[in-house]
Amino acid sequence: MAEIRHFLTLRDFSPDELKTLIQRAITLKAAWKAGNRDDQPLKNQTLAMIFEKASTRTRVSFEAGMTQLGGHAMFLSARDTQLGRGEPIEDSARVISSMTDIIMIRTFSHQTVETFAEYSSVPVINALTDDYHPCQLLADMMTYQEHRGDIQGKTVTYVGDGNNMCHSWMVAAKQFGFHLNIACPDAYQPKTSLIKEFDAHISISADINIAAKGSALVVTDVWASMGQEEEQKIREKAFAPFQVNEAVMALAQDDALFMHCLPAHREEEVTTAVLEGAQSVVWAEAENRLHAQKALLEALTVGFVS
Ligand code: CP
Ligand code: NVA
Repeated sequence: MAEIRHFLTLRDFSPDELKTLIQRAITLKAAWKAGNRDDQPLKNQTLAMIFEKASTRTRVSFEAGMTQLGGHAMFLSARDTQLGRGEPIEDSARVISSMTDIIMIRTFSHQTVETFAEYSSVPVINALTDDYHPCQLLADMMTYQEHRGDIQGKTVTYVGDGNNMCHSWMVAAKQFGFHLNIACPDAYQPKTSLIKEFDAHISISADINIAAKGSALVVTDVWASMGQEEEQKIREKAFAPFQVNEAVMALAQDDALFMHCLPAHREEEVTTAVLEGAQSVVWAEAENRLHAQKALLEALTVGFVS
């Protein structure tokens, strides 16, 4: 039997595999929009979707994606399963994977998805942990490709918390061959181990103006992530100088794009003018979660399609 592939971070696929996957997502998008709905590579297959945190885009895109691929998606909230009552991850992974074909998990600790994958007999997808959100980067890379072509050799600026999104952009910088400028308060830098790992691909500055200069793409994320709600007020203070506004966008290249994984907090990490402005591609970016994850589901079950 072929080795099971998981998708826990962008490191799990080679740069060539990632390129193939983005191209496939673009093809699947075009086919679906052209009305070609007969191709159902995941017919009769079931995706288990385990959510320990809230979601709009991730749930809708995975669920619709499975329908479009001919399969079925099963929503499992931790609250309503035995996982929420303390059944060990190892046991849950063995049981759920014995009845389904592929599993998606959104949770807190990254260790949880690693343990789940270790005990699962089917592919496991990380749909966001406190440390990484690799599915979002698939959509982001696809969106850049659609609007501006190859991102290789470009400079991207990430503004904000050194969190799961920032970490995912760091891995993407290496895998897709771009340079990542990170603008963040000193107290909210990404993990030290990741700064070391991606040293050759990133620059970190506490000055948003330095980080945004000459950039081809400016991205940001919320100041307080899921699970950090009680830090909102402290973070609002720390991140006040790190708002993406028109002055920041003016420092980037004239044709720079703006991305945000959403949900966005207008007038906090980004102004309404930028979010709704001509350089923003956030709605295409959100829609592309669907197309990119269809390519991902296909790659992990049927194999990569070029
Ligand atoms: N960007 C993203 O993952 O959105 P949701 O939290 O709505 O799934
Ligand atoms: N950093 C955010 C991303 C949401 C998609 C969070 O973890 O809440």
